[in-house]
Amino acid sequence: MKITVIGAGHVGATAAQRIAEKELANEVVLVDVVEGLPQGKGLDMYESAPIEGFDAKVIGTNSYEQTKNSDIILITAGIARKPGMSRDDLQATNANIVKTVTEQSVAQSPRAIIIVVSNPLDVMTYVAKKVSGFERHRVLGMAGVLDSARFRTFIAMELNVSVEDVTAFVLGGHGDSMVPLPRYSTVAGIPLPDLMDKATIDRLVKRTRDGGIEIVNYLKTGSAYYAPSSAAVEMIESIVRDKRRILPCAAWLEGEYGLKDVYCGVPVKLSSRGMEEIIQIKLTPEEQAALNKSAEDVRVNIAKLSL
Ligand code: NAI
Ligand code: 2OP
Repeated sequence: MKITVIGAGHVGATAAQRIAEKELANEVVLVDVVEGLPQGKGLDMYESAPIEGFDAKVIGTNSYEQTKNSDIILITAGIARKPGMSRDDLQATNANIVKTVTEQSVAQSPRAIIIVVSNPLDVMTYVAKKVSGFERHRVLGMAGVLDSARFRTFIAMELNVSVEDVTAFVLGGHGDSMVPLPRYSTVAGIPLPDLMDKATIDRLVKRTRDGGIEIVNYLKTGSAYYAPSSAAVEMIESIVRDKRRILPCAAWLEGEYGLKDVYCGVPVKLSSRGMEEIIQIKLTPEEQAALNKSAEDVRVNIAKLSL
């Protein structure tokens, strides 16, 4: 197993470290345009292997030759948000970056599975699919696992319970119109609406929607990366180990949930082939309307691209 991480910034470097420490690949290749950055971080990470006890080679490079025959390509290259910016403000710059890195990486690894992290997430995942020409089961975006993890954390904080017992589902695009689903969120199997009043649920849903900007406002110079890298690596682990976990991922829809030709967060079974299946759950009319609105927001932004 060989995994390439493109972008050796906050998310990329942290993801590479988590992949190596979990031994999800024999070889982790970290790529960036900045000279010395991936080499320095990669070597530093590799030098932690004897102490941490992981057996995975980490290589940093500015060239794609060393990424040849990767099984998975994780795209984190691009600019991140600063206070006052929306994810959509990143679109023009990041579309060019994601286009370039996709072209260069798939030329070396035509059989890889691509997972996109760069924002605006759903639109950038579309760019990777369009540029690579890969089938939809091999091009997925990471957002729902992160948004759900945030919702789970806020539920655990509110009830003062272990995060271990909290499950949650957030669907839709990774933007202000994302769709947290309290009905499908549970604490030790008990549905959330049985444990909290509506006002409390609404407050946690809002905090989840604003979860990205909450961190940006603290950091001021960039956006979240510990939880985002964990989320991307959870998807990678399900693929590498063929675990068939059901995780919310940005997937190219071809009629599922009544939506077509758009990337949107839905529950996906992740196996060694990438997306094994989209799981269709029954939504209430309100939930379906929220999902439609979220998908429409993505569609509008996809239409602004000139690839
Ligand atoms: P960062 O600024 O720390 O790292 C980005 C890296 O990309 C930099 O090292 C930069 O040199 C590199 N880069 C730029 N152009 C490149 C190119 N053409 N080829 C290779 N590398 C290139 O940013 P961070 O915090 O790592 O975030 C990365 C992206 O991920 C941002 O767009 C951010 O908005 C997004 N993000 C998405 C999340 C999600 O839930 N989908 C969560 C967190 C971040
Ligand atoms: C986040 O949600 C920036 O999209 C990124 O933290």
